[in-house]
Amino acid sequence: MSSTRTLLTALSPLAAGVLIWTANDTAVARGRAPRMGEPLRGLTAEERQLFLAGKEKFEAVEDADDGLGPIFNGTSCVICHGIPATGGSSPQNETRAQLFDGTDHFDLPGGSLFQSLAVSPDCAEAVPPNANVIAPRQSTPLFGSGLIEAVPDRSIERYAALQARNHPEQAGRIHRVVDAASGVTRVGRFGWKAQQATLLSFSADAYLNEMGITNHVFPRENAPNGDQSRLAACDTVPDPEDEDGDFELFAHYMRLLAPPPVEDERSGRRLRGRRGKQGRDVSGRIGFERVGCAVCHYDRYQARSPIRAIGGTTVKAFSDFLLHDVGTGDGIVQGGAGANELRTPPLWGLRESAPYLHDGSAPTIGEAIRRHANQGAAARDAFDRLSPDEQEALLEFLNAI
Ligand code: HEC
Ligand code: HEC
Repeated sequence: MSSTRTLLTALSPLAAGVLIWTANDTAVARGRAPRMGEPLRGLTAEERQLFLAGKEKFEAVEDADDGLGPIFNGTSCVICHGIPATGGSSPQNETRAQLFDGTDHFDLPGGSLFQSLAVSPDCAEAVPPNANVIAPRQSTPLFGSGLIEAVPDRSIERYAALQARNHPEQAGRIHRVVDAASGVTRVGRFGWKAQQATLLSFSADAYLNEMGITNHVFPRENAPNGDQSRLAACDTVPDPEDEDGDFELFAHYMRLLAPPPVEDERSGRRLRGRRGKQGRDVSGRIGFERVGCAVCHYDRYQARSPIRAIGGTTVKAFSDFLLHDVGTGDGIVQGGAGANELRTPPLWGLRESAPYLHDGSAPTIGEAIRRHANQGAAARDAFDRLSPDEQEALLEFLNAI
């Protein structure tokens, strides 16, 4: 295999791109797709500046004097979004917890997200003993999130209606959310429960809830277990702590991050389809469509955006951005998302984001597929019925997108 690959690489025009890249940074944009962590191709000089300024803030480590805490989960964005490059994910989980009384779900004081770190031991938050639903969640990669943000609400609404008509057993639900930054009701698409619609609101929320830094959208500090007197003793920096609007720079940075490159743009080897023993085309892409994965893992939305590098792009994220019950629900009710529901996660870049599922409980892609039940059961069973060759081709496809 390696000799075939070497030959393909040597013959491919991409090889020239790699050579030019060492000499000239702009030529690379023409020679190959951006790698994970790089900006979109075709940005204006001003956008490139915003990307770089945002990246610097995204990587900056904050301390208590900057407003970090009193309770927090990490000291920078990149600490949980840094693998395989800045803007990626990490194996670090965070904890959601609620009280379920047999009928209803309740947030406990301090909200459903529990912060695991504190500026001092006296200020720490603990999951209260009466919490009976405790759910870990892993961090999601952010590559291509500007494209996801640019999918118009009505495209998601239209696809939801089409899905309900053609595949009633798989029909997903829209999570409508009030976008905190604009006050407008929008179609959610970010987070495991599609709990946010825009990168600006997610940034402001993450700055407060992951790092304890108050900002213009969320000016009120998170009290440890909801205890205001401990908050008063533990927090000395006046709000909003993010005076300069760093959270806006995070949003610009994430918006301009390129989506993961498709593997065959680099090696020319995958995605091309292969011939099975019976001479039938068993390309992974065809298998993916045929067994019904593409019903939820949808890759045909079109981005609308004033940013030239984003507008008109097909968003090949492989997600409908709808909530589904595939039997892996985390038991947490979050806004309009039910205990058993999760957003279909994007599949682009899967090769770099193991482990899988919201809680990281599936070490491999194959295991993630086997865990699909309920609305995902038919596709899982159809996958099981594929020949070993066809299954392998499908997994290869998933490793390449
Ligand atoms: C302690 C780890 C941690 C830190 C620190 C952190 N995040 Fe995250 N991030 C997560 C987790 C976990 C999720 C998934 C959360 C969920 O859906 O409930 C996430 C999800 C996101 C998403 C949604 C992506 C998508 O497609 O669903 C965005 C955007 C994001 N984070 C931005 C940020 C920014 C900006 C910062 C810094 C202010 C930050 N994060 C800091 C762990 C972290
Ligand atoms: C009914 C909608 C639906 C169908 C059909 C479906 N999925 Fe999923 N898929 C989901 C949801 C929802 C999740 C999130 C589950 C979780 O995190 O617990 C998911 C998660 C995944 C993951 C893990 C992604 C990650 O980043 O953790 C992979 C891989 C995956 N699906 C592949 C497939 C494949 C391959 C098929 C076809 C055999 C398929 N799915 C069919 C909705 C669906």
